[in-house]
Amino acid sequence: MKNIKAIIFDAYGTLFDVNSAAEKCKDKIGDKWEGFANFWRTTQLEYTWLRSLMKRHKDFWQVTEDSLDKSMKVFNIDPTMKNELLNLYKVLSPFEEVPKTLKTLKEKNFKLAILSNGTPSLLNELVKSNNLDYLFDDIFSIEEVGIYKPNSKVYDIPVKKYHMKKNEIAFLSANTWDVSGGGNYGYSAIWVNRNKNIFDNLDYKPNFEIKDLSELEGII
Ligand code: LAC
Repeated sequence: MKNIKAIIFDAYGTLFDVNSAAEKCKDKIGDKWEGFANFWRTTQLEYTWLRSLMKRHKDFWQVTEDSLDKSMKVFNIDPTMKNELLNLYKVLSPFEEVPKTLKTLKEKNFKLAILSNGTPSLLNELVKSNNLDYLFDDIFSIEEVGIYKPNSKVYDIPVKKYHMKKNEIAFLSANTWDVSGGGNYGYSAIWVNRNKNIFDNLDYKPNFEIKDLSELEGII
């Protein structure tokens, strides 16, 4: 990957740990916290895909709340915890290696950006609360095009802004379907396989699979 000029990251699940909100409440939720967190995430993503197919867009914060409401009912979670969980979702923790890796890449003069389903204000708060805001050149939100990943209009956003060839952009996601979306679009896609998952059968296999971002320096 010698021709890479920009490195673009998915946010949720790739830079930030989506399970960290429920994990911070595990004393109150009990052993089911992880099943609940996974169900919330899966439902949230399903709602993004379904809303895009139905052409009934609502922003990611609304989708996050709608999916939380359903998940709390399914897992019989005390309804008074809703606001606590939502507030924690605004300040999710980054994965351990993220700050250091971003700093190193920035020093090497790569353009660094986020491309995410999140709203601009959610994403700005997320990077600011973790003191990572100064590391990014841009934070691209799907709200600019009003449709969720993996629609190609989303992956078009940075290409149009940077006037780069698609394959000059390294796109990293921990979400297999997002790697397939970005890879089919033409990015040099890299799968961050944090949990030893199996890749999808969606017409694209990434050239690179890493277990966390610290391996990135070795391939770019
Ligand atoms: C995002 C979701 C897909 O940040 O993780 O866009």
